[in-house]
Amino acid sequence: MQILDGKTLSVTLQRELADKVDVLLAQGKRPPHLAAVIVGDNPASKVYVGHKIKACNRVGFKSSMITLSSEITQEELLVEIDKLNMDDSIDGYIVQLPLPRHIDPDVITVAVNPSKDVDGFHPVNIGKMAMGLDGFVPATPFGIITMLDRYNITTEGKSVVVLGRSNIVGTPMSILLSRNSKIGNATVTLTHSRTKNLKELLLQADIIVAAIGRNRFVTADMVKEGAIIIDVGINSIPDPSKKSGYRLVGDVDFEHVAEKCAFITPVPGGVGPLTVAALLLNTFKAYQTNEQ
Ligand code: GUN
Repeated sequence: MQILDGKTLSVTLQRELADKVDVLLAQGKRPPHLAAVIVGDNPASKVYVGHKIKACNRVGFKSSMITLSSEITQEELLVEIDKLNMDDSIDGYIVQLPLPRHIDPDVITVAVNPSKDVDGFHPVNIGKMAMGLDGFVPATPFGIITMLDRYNITTEGKSVVVLGRSNIVGTPMSILLSRNSKIGNATVTLTHSRTKNLKELLLQADIIVAAIGRNRFVTADMVKEGAIIIDVGINSIPDPSKKSGYRLVGDVDFEHVAEKCAFITPVPGGVGPLTVAALLLNTFKAYQTNEQ
């Protein structure tokens, strides 16, 4: 069994980007600029956005954090989005999800200019991805395919089961792995809460992508020997032995599954850090388009 070390790969990807930024600055050019909008005070969102801003600083990107009250109306948020769309000094931006319940995330996603949509959530970017055209690929799936690529894991002809059909992970992952490209050409089954024969499907999978947000849902009896496991879950469970009183676990029962498989991502330190690196890669791409 080999650990897919997302943390180390994320550091490598960020170092590569930092080198590119150094070259730009030496040429007298401006650095790429990412903005992040955070609405309300969801503690997890604050942590995630904090990671993204810190990563910008590490690679030499400019970053802006726009913190808005949870009381903001949808109309007022749309005005903020419009300002970001018009601001030529910003290459790309994200609106951290989830949003307060009175705001429709789909309305906000569609309002983002697709050329600044470094989250890759806008229908134009999802459509481009589905057609195999160049655009922004959502950060988590982009991080996962980058990891498979860098570890020289081939997907062609393999049987993949994706657990979960979210717009952010499951659905784009199923599109990417089934399209005709280097990391692709797999036979993908997208499963969800209504899937009947889940265990049977999982047991024949060469690759499992678990993204359902259920703590240690995938157990050893659901995984075949030699499978490749990508665990996207980040679930917090009580742990009195920790100072914080909790610890993070994935959607996969790592302790028992790891010994059966060929490759597995740990939680934490697997997919999470790659999501941040992928967002920076998307921002760099937006910058290059702007500076051409
Ligand atoms: N919430 C959970 N994951 C993400 C992400 O990748 N981008 C944004 N904007 N919000 C999220």
